[in-house]
Amino acid sequence: MIRSAIVPVAGHGTRLLPATKSQPKEMLPVARKPIVQYVVEELVANGIEQILFVTGRSKSSIENHFDSDPELTRVLKDGNKKDLLAELEFEELDANFFYTRQRFQRGLGDAILCGENFAGESPVIVALGDSILGINAESKAVQRMTELFMDKRASCVIAVEEVPREDVVHYGIVDVAENSDGTLRVAKIVEKPTVEEAPSCLAVAGRYAFSPLIFDMIRRVKPDKRGEIQLTSAIQMLCEEGKRVLALKLRPEERRYDIGNFPSYFETFVEFALADPLYGKDFRAYLERLLCGGSSPSSSS
Ligand code: G1P
Repeated sequence: MIRSAIVPVAGHGTRLLPATKSQPKEMLPVARKPIVQYVVEELVANGIEQILFVTGRSKSSIENHFDSDPELTRVLKDGNKKDLLAELEFEELDANFFYTRQRFQRGLGDAILCGENFAGESPVIVALGDSILGINAESKAVQRMTELFMDKRASCVIAVEEVPREDVVHYGIVDVAENSDGTLRVAKIVEKPTVEEAPSCLAVAGRYAFSPLIFDMIRRVKPDKRGEIQLTSAIQMLCEEGKRVLALKLRPEERRYDIGNFPSYFETFVEFALADPLYGKDFRAYLERLLCGGSSPSSSS
């Protein structure tokens, strides 16, 4: 099994300014929870027991979020606010949290390299802190990736999903070939190709399983034009060295919600709010009035 995960959360979130000026994008709420809480809950549900956050300046609210807050708990207990206390149950999640800082913004590969000592000689999951898999993060993709990784003695397993052709420019894109056992071997991976260059429409979806070999590869990667060490380049090196790099397709119900830009953040928020067991129904009625009624929904409610 794989018990450790690295969650990189060091990026500036510039595509979400001004919302992210002084708070991490991973702490933006999607419906009732911050994004990173969905990621952590998904990892724990997939057997992960220790999580390393690779953070940066102005990311301390992530650390605070996963710490217990005895004063707040006491206030809620004194007020007999049982429903609100239930909202803090995630503080008891069965996982150990570790934090380290990426001191210079040298890209995703460099952020993962900060987790080398944490991973030690064991395989590790990498879960991007701005991506939620499936509505309410109900995905077992990491578990399936772990099983595939172990069964096939892979060096790397990447979660992928089909994206529209025009969107390939935003993602790492893989070229895959089907093995005789039905698994997908990654022959090539390209970071943010043009529509013409893209070898397929299968995009890297923010979850990876790696053997410790990845750290040696990252160390050998040359920075790109922007001075960033791309994780994708390190994976491409694994492919070139003949290591077993496999892709696992996400199921339709565990599609990836990307919170890295405003259009998809808005979509994600609305979809999760509509699925909220307590407020979803009323919110749907509100939206229907807003979109179909023409007049101001507050005046008609
Ligand atoms: C990163 C990876 C890219 C992947 C994407 C998924 O890009 O480099 O390969 O497809 O995450 O979200 P970023 O979104 O950080 O630019």
